[in-house]
Amino acid sequence: MSINLFDLTGRVAIITGGAGLLASEHAIALSAYGAKIILADFNEEKCNDAVDELKKQNINAVAKFCDVTKKESWGKLLSDVLNEFGKVDILINNAGFTNQSKSANYDAAFENFPLEDWNAIMNVNLTGAFLGCQIIGKQMLLQGKGSIINIASLYGVVSPNHNIYPGTGISQPVAYSVSKHGVVALTKYVATLWASKGVRVNALTPGGIFNDHKGLFLERFKQLNPIGRMSDKTELRGGIVYLASDASSHVVGHNLIIDGGWTIW
Ligand SMILES: NC(=O)c1ccc[n+]([C@@H]2O[C@H](COP(=O)([O-])OP(=O)(O)OC[C@H]3O[C@@H](n4cnc5c(N)ncnc54)[C@H](O)[C@@H]3O)[C@@H](O)[C@H]2O)c1
Repeated sequence: MSINLFDLTGRVAIITGGAGLLASEHAIALSAYGAKIILADFNEEKCNDAVDELKKQNINAVAKFCDVTKKESWGKLLSDVLNEFGKVDILINNAGFTNQSKSANYDAAFENFPLEDWNAIMNVNLTGAFLGCQIIGKQMLLQGKGSIINIASLYGVVSPNHNIYPGTGISQPVAYSVSKHGVVALTKYVATLWASKGVRVNALTPGGIFNDHKGLFLERFKQLNPIGRMSDKTELRGGIVYLASDASSHVVGHNLIIDGGWTIW
C-alpha cells in the first residue's frame, strides 16, 4: 500500500513575489507534486522571465500582475485565477522587501530610519500578507478548503544580530524584523479563526539563504549558525510541500522554522 500524503494533483497555487529568488523554488516544489502554479508580482517583466525559466524545466506556470499592497489588485488577481482555473487551493504570501528588493532607504540607521521606508516595508511584508489572507482566504472559505503559507523570516522570530553587519554592505532594517514578527502573529490570528472551516494558515520561516554572499558576512554567518553554513535556496522545498499538502492536515498556526538552528541559541 502506498500513501501519498503529499499529493497536490490539480491543486491551484498562487505564489506572490513571483519574480524573486525563492518563489521559483516554491513553484518547483509544488509542481513536482502536481500543483498548477501562478506566479504573481508587481514586476511583470521579471515575473514573465521567471515563468519562462520554469517552463524550460517543464513546469507549467503562468505569470500574473499583483501589487500585494493594493486590495483591488488582489481582487483582480483572484478573479483572473477563478476565470482561468476555477478555484484556488494554496496561497504562498512570499512577496517582501528584502536585501535584494530594497525600499529606497533600506540601509538607513535606526536613529534616522525614514517613516516612508517603515511604511513601505510594512505595507509589502505585513499588509500584503494581511490582504492576501483576507481576499484569497475568503475564497478558500467558500470552497471549504485551502492552505495559506505566510513566509516569515528568522528575523520574525529573533532580532537580527547587529554585530554581523558592520563592514559587509548588508543591513536589516527595523521594519523588516518587526513586519516579519507581525506575519507570525497574523498567521496565528487567522489560523485560529479558520481551522474549523477547512482553511489552514501556517508560517514558514527561512533562515539566511545563500545568494552569492561573500567575505566577512558569510564567515560571521557561518560561525553563528549551528549548522555551519547558510541555507541553500532549495532547502525550503520540503517544508513548502508539507504545509501545502494534506500531510499537514492537523497543523494549524504553526511557524515551521528552516534555519539551520539560527534561532535556537
Ligand atoms: N532570501 C532570504 O535570505 C530570506 C530569508 C528569510 C526570509 N525571506 C523571505 O522570503 C520571501 C522571498 O524572499 P526572496 O529572497 O525571494 O526575495 P526577493 O527580494 O528576491 O523577491 C521578493 C519579490 O517580491 C516582489 N515584491 C515587492 N513588493 C511587491 C509588491 N508590492 N507586490 C508584489 N510583489 C512585490 C519583488 O518584486 C520581488 O520579486 C520574502 O518574504 C523574504 O522576506 C527571505
